[in-house]
Amino acid sequence: MDNRNYNNYNEGPERPRKRKKVSKETLRKRQLTAVFVIAFIVLLFVILIAKACSKDSGKGGDTKPADTVTTTTSAVTTLAPETTAPATLATTTTVVTGSNDPDKGFKLDKYSIYINVGESGIAYVQQYPEGSTEADEVWSSSDEKIATVDAYGHITGVAGGECYVTLKAKNNPSQEVMIRVVVAGTPAANNDQNNNGNNTPLNNTPDTEKKQETEKKPETAEAKQEVKEGKPAEQAPEAAKAETEKKPETPEPQPLAEAPAPSKINDPQAHYEGNVLIVNKSYPLSENYNPGTLDPNCNEWFNKLTQDAAKEGLNIYFASGFRSYTYQKQIYDNYVANYGQASADTFSARPGYSEHQTGLAIDVNTIDDSFGGTPEAVWLADNCYKYGFIIRYPKGKDGITGYKYEPWHIRYVGSEIAKKVHDAGSDATLEEIYGLTSQYS
Ligand code: DAL
Ligand code: ZN
Repeated sequence: MDNRNYNNYNEGPERPRKRKKVSKETLRKRQLTAVFVIAFIVLLFVILIAKACSKDSGKGGDTKPADTVTTTTSAVTTLAPETTAPATLATTTTVVTGSNDPDKGFKLDKYSIYINVGESGIAYVQQYPEGSTEADEVWSSSDEKIATVDAYGHITGVAGGECYVTLKAKNNPSQEVMIRVVVAGTPAANNDQNNNGNNTPLNNTPDTEKKQETEKKPETAEAKQEVKEGKPAEQAPEAAKAETEKKPETPEPQPLAEAPAPSKINDPQAHYEGNVLIVNKSYPLSENYNPGTLDPNCNEWFNKLTQDAAKEGLNIYFASGFRSYTYQKQIYDNYVANYGQASADTFSARPGYSEHQTGLAIDVNTIDDSFGGTPEAVWLADNCYKYGFIIRYPKGKDGITGYKYEPWHIRYVGSEIAKKVHDAGSDATLEEIYGLTSQYS
């Protein structure tokens, strides 16, 4: 066994014992003092830097130096562009309206929610205004035809469309937060121009119905197989039987007619390149341009697109369509409140500058980065031109379109232009084809 005292052993035999003891304690005290002083200085620095950063992010983007913008942009890559509130944001985002001080008011765990008709979601309150508690929560929906909310903040999708749910403090009604609710599914009857001027395509098949439709497929295949094996359905006339036998297992998509170009819009400020309406950071629409709904051709061809995708077992569904100037302002302002203007400008259009105001743009499915790369996103990118649509904000073209990649945002231009863009490359943009800029002045 090793009985050596390692403390003594390490100290070495040469130095006088008394002096060694004193010097060690003193040394320890000095070291401790030094550690505390250094830690204090570091902490002070961290606090100062954090304060400086939080001030910067609220200043707005146009004047930010490029390197700061880059940092902000990369942070947003994992966030949800445009509309979504992904899980990664859940603990940091709050939508605060009016002049409320976000530091003293409500804080929710998300600022937007995506649900299907009949589904529920909840926004958790992470902070209450001073003097308020859970018992003081007052929840309301801006449109109960789209989504309802109960006294505890459970939000339930009623019909396809968008609305806002607001939480107010009972004893302090000036304190409120809003959460944007997007419900995927069939719009309510007589609600084609629902709240906030949003519009959902007609005959839009809800997610759940589409799933059932896809699930029905094997039955049909089985029935066809039975016919092939000489077990035709009872009472099927001979001619019908023969026809059934001829049918291929996977129905061939019908050759499509040309998707017509959208009609020219009635806005004196609208900028056209030939017949193509351009709306980007350089070419805004007037504040009062409000068609109130999707362009009818855009709507019709989007329905064709989703139906053909469904035939291939893909579920492409409407998430957001026409948005009025006022509604876009609400969306954009909320993003600015949460991320600062520089960041918001990379994924959300300022009011008047959004293609959604034209009634020619649709967002599909999950509006976040996770949509890219799904079979639906791949099919959409490969096929949307056949229905007159283009992927408006391709990957890597931020500097040209002015926006981050949005695999879910399609813009209706009609077959001719869509094919032209498609033939120019999978990441071609209207700005490149027409030699245009997209920059706020
Ligand atoms: N996300 C696009 C750029 C819009 O807000 O219109
Ligand atoms: Zn969009």
